[in-house]
Amino acid sequence: MDNKALLKHSKRPIGVFDSGLGGLTVVRELTRTLPHEDIVYFGDLARLPYGAKSKKQIIEFSVNNTLFLLRQKVKAIIIACNSSASSASSYLRRLFPVPIVDVISATAEEAAELSRTGRIAVLGTKATIESGVYQAKIKQLFPRAHVITQSCPLFVPLVEEGWLLGKVTSGVAEHYLKSIKKAKVDVVVLGCTHYPLLKTVIKKAFSKKVALVESAPRTVADLKKILQDQGLLNVEGRGRLSIFVSDKSRNFIEIGSRFLGEPIRSVKIVKW
Ligand code: DGL
Repeated sequence: MDNKALLKHSKRPIGVFDSGLGGLTVVRELTRTLPHEDIVYFGDLARLPYGAKSKKQIIEFSVNNTLFLLRQKVKAIIIACNSSASSASSYLRRLFPVPIVDVISATAEEAAELSRTGRIAVLGTKATIESGVYQAKIKQLFPRAHVITQSCPLFVPLVEEGWLLGKVTSGVAEHYLKSIKKAKVDVVVLGCTHYPLLKTVIKKAFSKKVALVESAPRTVADLKKILQDQGLLNVEGRGRLSIFVSDKSRNFIEIGSRFLGEPIRSVKIVKW
């Protein structure tokens, strides 16, 4: 690409997709770190949750989501959904010639760097945990690591209901984290878009020395580096955010605003 074409390409938006609205935590980080970038977000609310679905189904949904974003002429894509990243990211990278960053690689890297003892816990959906991707990536970077995993399927509906604190949520967390507490880990990976909103409750279950790792900061830092290296960073844009969903769930504006950290002003519905 010559300089003029590169400049034009750099003005294109960054595409982000998730099974629902949890990926807006990544958008929140993006707008903070890269304020001049336009962002197109797609949340597949019609087909949420991905975490309980088969690999084949998640791949099919993820291909659709990527095609949608490419139709919006994005210059790069963040797979903000851990379930999708664990099942589909290598497939999507083979299929589409656009930089694709996923939440798992960056988060696994950070966990491996942070851990002193090598005892690392990963929390995620069933799809993410059963894929073994976190375990493999952490072991690649830290071969002596002992990775303990736990799927926490009830965390997603609790967050969707806005039950971020309180007895019920603490009880569910205690139940899921029982064996991990005994395992004396020093790092816990929040391997699902929704879990950062349960940080207070999860943190309470562990000692102060245990570090919780969430996906957004490192994922966005990785994308920034790729855009910089390829001369695709937008340093003078207005930073517009467009949010698309495949369905409106009942309280999606309220939930979405919680993930985004500010009120959502407008959302467009996509008909496939
Ligand atoms: N976005 C999903 C993830 O990060 C959580 C919700 C779902 O199961 O679809 O794994």
